[in-house]
Amino acid sequence: MKKILSSILMGLTLLTGFNAKAERIDMTNKKILVVYFSKTGEQYSVGNITEGNTAVIAKMIAEQTKADLFEIKLKNDTYPTAYKALTEVALTEKKANARPEIAGNVANFADYDVIFIGTPNWWADMPMALYTFIEANDWSGKTIIPFVTHEGSGLSSIPGKIKSATGANVAEGLAVYGHIAQNDRKQAKVDVVNWLKKLGF
Ligand SMILES: Cc1cc2nc3c(=O)[nH]c(=O)nc-3n(C[C@H](O)[C@H](O)[C@H](O)COP(=O)(O)O)c2cc1C
Repeated sequence: MKKILSSILMGLTLLTGFNAKAERIDMTNKKILVVYFSKTGEQYSVGNITEGNTAVIAKMIAEQTKADLFEIKLKNDTYPTAYKALTEVALTEKKANARPEIAGNVANFADYDVIFIGTPNWWADMPMALYTFIEANDWSGKTIIPFVTHEGSGLSSIPGKIKSATGANVAEGLAVYGHIAQNDRKQAKVDVVNWLKKLGF
């Protein structure tokens, strides 16, 4: 049984090409940023929301770690507010490997040592705007900590994709169900705090 499990795990690691270690990060004198993308409107299993699921978690992390917060927004946000229509547009963008233009960038990006990247899981990947953001910045010497909200797929291979796109050191990520982030903030906060403790915060 153990053998089967370890083969499955190895297979997963090969598939994603990446296996983040749950290692503690030295936070002494580190400048921390939380960057996130999140969508309001109709979302799976939570109905119409005015604050996105990932935004909820991003704000919790920023509060706990006393980090600065930056929301990645589209320059021209033409995404549908209806969930099903949005999934179709997102899939088209993913297939086209699109780079939607984003509105602005972090002013003093070079100053940050530790950067949390928060994203919804869209088709087992990040919204393409995250790639636009990643490619607009220099990640050398940075430590990235990913977090993902989802409705069943967890982190997918998002940490590995972040690693490939940035070349930076990527720490163990957190996956939170979107409906837990939205409707059970107490539980979400427990999950966030426990994960942050493991990372050394
Ligand atoms: C375009 C789109 C694609 C999605 N694809 C997945 C998926 O592949 N796996 C999954 O678990 N959830 C998927 N979801 C659900 C979202 O990951 C989930 O609702 C998330 O919490 C939304 O975060 P947000 O409110 O911050 O945008 C998808 C949602 C959308 C809108």
